[in-house]
Amino acid sequence: MTSDALTLPKAELHLHVEGTLEPDLAFALAVRNGVDLPFASVEELRAAYRFTDLQSFLDLYYACMDVLRTREDFRDLAAAYLRRAAAEGVRHVELFFDAQAHTARGVPYADVIGGLQDALDAAAHLGVTGGLILCFLRDAPVEEAEEVWAEARTRPEALLGVGLDSAEVGNPAGRFAPIYAEARALGLHAVAHAGEEGGPEYVWDALRELGAERIDHGIRSLEDPELVRHLAEHGIPLTVCPFSNVRLRAVDRLADHPLPAMLAAGLHVTVNSDDPAYFGGYAGENLEAVAEEFGLSAAELGLLARNSVTASFASAERKGELLAEIERWEGARPRE
Ligand code: ADE
Ligand code: ZN
Repeated sequence: MTSDALTLPKAELHLHVEGTLEPDLAFALAVRNGVDLPFASVEELRAAYRFTDLQSFLDLYYACMDVLRTREDFRDLAAAYLRRAAAEGVRHVELFFDAQAHTARGVPYADVIGGLQDALDAAAHLGVTGGLILCFLRDAPVEEAEEVWAEARTRPEALLGVGLDSAEVGNPAGRFAPIYAEARALGLHAVAHAGEEGGPEYVWDALRELGAERIDHGIRSLEDPELVRHLAEHGIPLTVCPFSNVRLRAVDRLADHPLPAMLAAGLHVTVNSDDPAYFGGYAGENLEAVAEEFGLSAAELGLLARNSVTASFASAERKGELLAEIERWEGARPRE
């Protein structure tokens, strides 16, 4: 990729670190840990990347995670992602991780966050800053979330915030309200997936029940004009993932994606990659594709990049640095 989207400085705010597990690394870790993957080869695994909806993806996503066993595995996974992201202009990243999917397999929570933090610390050399967002699995018993939270809450400084992911429809957010209330009281940020497959009521729920500051996806918000007004008025960011929405059939084709309508409605939209190893592209490729599909100008790309920085949980100082970098990027481009 040689386009502007590659060099544009930006923040990645919707990225499941387990969704960056490329097939080559999955097989390397399977060998290292003596784990049997249910696929004979990298090619066979890649051939399974044909999804009909969110659940069909989640089934494969959780199966592949079985190769992640040790602190080194989590470090290597995140380090590979951070190298790739840095090469695509990502300058700040807030990594989601699914702790329960690992602790339920006997992997200690400390090894998960330890390995991820090792990689983030090393990424300082790449000029990338970031932090961790612990996501609860909304389709698992709430007791499981409480169990992992009981450990996480003893060292909240290891986290930027908490999030909610996995199968949305039929799994309302309200059950997680007490955990979120505690997390917010500890000074953690609150985000939640909503309005990906579920309707606008799931977005309202995330806002009202969880106090979510950012909504992950949120594409179905457009179905409720009052919600759109609320999101716009309060500047609540929506971390949109175009490739994910196409691959999980939330929209038929990229051309049908609501991103332009969301921008036109005055929503604080950012472009992200969700699970890039599975969906065909990282932050740069997602931006490049929407720029091409919708004919976005350099100024519109700049707006998306600024949105990603202002929606981030980076320090005010770091935000200032990144906004200045974006301004320099814009200044180096001819005005249309
Ligand atoms: N976990 C990983 N990717 C996800 C997505 N797109 N929606 C919900 N949960 C997820
Ligand atoms: Zn997601």
